[in-house]
Amino acid sequence: MTSTTTRWWDEGERLGAAELRALQLERLRATLSRVYERVPFYRDAFDKAGVRPEDCTSLADLARFPFTTKADLRDNYPFGLFAVEQAEVRRLHASSGTTGLPTVVGYTEDDLSMWADMVARAIRAAGGRPGHKVHVAYGYGLFTGGLGAHYGAERLGCTVIPASGGMTARQVRLILDLRPEIIMVTPSYMLTLLDEFERQGVDPRSTSLQVGVLGAEPWTEEMRREIEERCGIDAVDIYGLSEVVGPGVAQECVETKDGLHIWEDHFYPEVVDPVTGEVLPDGEPGELVFTSLTKQAMPVIRYRTRDLTRLLPGTARPAFRRMEKITGRSDDMVIVRGLNLFPTQVEEIVLRTPGVAPHFQLRLTREGRMDALTVRAEARPGATPDERDAAARAITAGMKDGVGLTVAVEIVDPETLERSVGKIKRIVDLRNR
Ligand code: DLL
Repeated sequence: MTSTTTRWWDEGERLGAAELRALQLERLRATLSRVYERVPFYRDAFDKAGVRPEDCTSLADLARFPFTTKADLRDNYPFGLFAVEQAEVRRLHASSGTTGLPTVVGYTEDDLSMWADMVARAIRAAGGRPGHKVHVAYGYGLFTGGLGAHYGAERLGCTVIPASGGMTARQVRLILDLRPEIIMVTPSYMLTLLDEFERQGVDPRSTSLQVGVLGAEPWTEEMRREIEERCGIDAVDIYGLSEVVGPGVAQECVETKDGLHIWEDHFYPEVVDPVTGEVLPDGEPGELVFTSLTKQAMPVIRYRTRDLTRLLPGTARPAFRRMEKITGRSDDMVIVRGLNLFPTQVEEIVLRTPGVAPHFQLRLTREGRMDALTVRAEARPGATPDERDAAARAITAGMKDGVGLTVAVEIVDPETLERSVGKIKRIVDLRNR
């Protein structure tokens, strides 16, 4: 499709800003018409809002159309939002609902091909090239991470090692023996792998790995530094969600590492005020909302991701806007004594603190009528009691000065906190026990 020497994967990436806007409007109008004709849920929602697909004459007009939420997907479980006959659906994925029903998403053959192209673009932007070996340690199965990464890497012309998640000692063996250049994995599981290399007496900097394409959960610049320094790789961010397609909605370019370029020719982003739903200008922080522009089996209109970020102008791919690294999901935010807290804020502090490993957990309890938060961080192997005390003081001060919260800090022994094999769960909420 394209030459092996340029950083581009396809023509879409070369569009100029005006061409991109025109293409988006054309695709948006087609998508709105498609769902209005084929999906009763959207027809009703548009009718209720008093809008018709033909009312969309500019990209700004999208703001007149109603949002779609996770609850809408659940209410229409399993196939109510599909816009094609079942026989045209080639694959289903599902995201495990923490409460109640999971949500199901579907793909036609063209959808799968578009998705593979977007992930191929992402891996290429991360520095991957045809001929590279790609170790995929995202879980395979109903989760979109494993298979999404897999077909994208194959599309790019890479050799895929479909390791999936778990069996950490074996992952390390495979990396040492098969010598992949690229690893695709959650940042928290990457840390588990680095610990395992060190446990086996192998310096992770000595492996064949050159690039980590890390995502599926929020992670900070501090975590990037930790992983890059310990492993000697470039660690770049990949974003996506099942409802929109899976991994490959947006990707950070290795040459700039300045946030993720959204593949806007297929996924149209808006950032809205999470409370009022009002569309915010680029640059302002809020909730990310996506409209799919080319999906056939299950298009989504103004899907509320609950992910918090802001839109910035393109850099390495000038026509595509970037999204800033995600601070967190509105559902991951905990409110402690009236203060909003995201695990990423604690991650920044813990990872800056000498004497502790990059492993931590947030334990919420209730003392009387007050919420109490304990930050449990793991001592680095060999840290002295004095170093552990100093670390506890530094984290306490960081939380007080940086976040404005008084917390208890517990420095636990090395290797005692549960390790991630996929998406990590930072918060243990014991308040309603
Ligand atoms: O996590 C898809 C994916 C797989 C993305 C592999 C990247 C790599 P879901 O399980 O549906 O899909 O979860 C989607 O995960 O709404 C975010 O809250 C979070 N998320 C995904 N990527 C990032 C990221 C996959 N790079 C939800 N940074 C999203 C922060 C992320 N959060």
